[in-house]
Amino acid sequence: MDKMWAGRFQKALDKEADDFNSSIHFDCRMYRQDIRGSLAHAKMLEKCGILSQEDAALIQTGLDSILADLDCGALAFDFDAEDIHMFIEAELTKRIGDAGKRLHTARSRNDQVAVDIRMYLRDEAAGVKALLLSLIEAVLHKAEEYAGAIMPGYTHLQRAQPIYFGQQLLAYCMMFTRDVGRLEDAVKRMNYSPLGSCALAGTSYPINREYTASLLGFDGICMNSIDGVSDRDFCAELLAVFSVIMMHLSRFSEEIILWSSFEFRFIELDDSYTTGSSIMPQKKNPDMAELVRGKTGRVYGDLTALLTALKGLPLAYNKDMQEDKEAIFDAVDTVKKCLRVFAPMIDTMKALPANMKKAAQTGFINATDVADYLVGKGMPFRAAYKISGQLVAECIEKDTVLEALPLEAYRAHSDLFDTDVYGFINIEACAEKRNSAGGTGKESIKTQIAYVKAFLDAQKEALE
Ligand code: ARG
Repeated sequence: MDKMWAGRFQKALDKEADDFNSSIHFDCRMYRQDIRGSLAHAKMLEKCGILSQEDAALIQTGLDSILADLDCGALAFDFDAEDIHMFIEAELTKRIGDAGKRLHTARSRNDQVAVDIRMYLRDEAAGVKALLLSLIEAVLHKAEEYAGAIMPGYTHLQRAQPIYFGQQLLAYCMMFTRDVGRLEDAVKRMNYSPLGSCALAGTSYPINREYTASLLGFDGICMNSIDGVSDRDFCAELLAVFSVIMMHLSRFSEEIILWSSFEFRFIELDDSYTTGSSIMPQKKNPDMAELVRGKTGRVYGDLTALLTALKGLPLAYNKDMQEDKEAIFDAVDTVKKCLRVFAPMIDTMKALPANMKKAAQTGFINATDVADYLVGKGMPFRAAYKISGQLVAECIEKDTVLEALPLEAYRAHSDLFDTDVYGFINIEACAEKRNSAGGTGKESIKTQIAYVKAFLDAQKEALE
């Protein structure tokens, strides 16, 4: 195919170099955004008297027909074209003749690609947000279902204090609600139109950038043409948000992997979200969670690749910037795929509260409460802490638990101990009394559930 820019060249581009240079294999996925941008541009050119009514009408019909044909598969991408922008323009000229050649007036591929990516990412961010909301809903349902299931809470992966499974799950709900906020913030900053920045310096044609910006649903225009065509900070910001989402999903995955192991047996994943082993018949592997954990590195890689590609670039456009797309496309695809399996995996997962409780009953996770008991009777916390530690050591030696130590053993350390100590250090009571704001107590869990529900309701309302 003859290059549109062939004018000043005597020789054709080497075949290998041509393939290397081409981006249509991946940027073809932005064809809808590209056509939408061109439609708005043509409309603006007409409104500003730069393009005749007849030409504008021809361009509109031509672009509409290309869009329809690409949507239904009647038109295939020409992978010999340099990029999606060149392909659509060439196809337009094929269909409507000379009018097609007027579309690129007061425009450059530099502002064209920048506007396409912004529109594409804005749409994808909305898709990721919808998936995140479904995930929050699934986790919230589990939190409600298991609001009263006692389990050990961990620090250093050592049993620490009794909590409810609902509390643990709500922790993830809170993280994901913030991820939704981060997505919204990133879109807010991204939603300004670079169209009309042209190659880098703007144009001498009397264009109306605000008009195209409003036609394309932007909140305004990029205020500086060089910035408009050369920054990709909005891509980096979105990739950073995706990375945080993946980090949260990965921690959750790690817990799911641990909890579903025979060592824990706190949960059982549904058959439809686990796999077997080709050799070990007993296996039920949490592959989905492991893959999500694995793919987290990949999304971090996309962020790092983009930041690294950008860091040394002089203003304005450089071809290096074509590398932005594969990174963001890969991250978009990966995050979406992960969220799509994660929500139903959580939705179909079953907890095994009896096993959680058993684990909560060993490991001395009520040792803090023994100390708190003495504090309640007037002893300073540090002294009480020491006695509780000595009692734990005694239990370990006698292979027993704090609840089973006879009262004499307690009283040998302090005569503040009485029979009410057993009620006080009962595992359920220990969880229940932690009703400080945000704590694991049932009242606090209720407040948290209400908070997440209100968050989801507000999101749904905003969509209506
Ligand atoms: N395919 C190019 C990209 O993705 C489009 C912009 C090309 N601009 C240029 N001056 N060569 O970055």
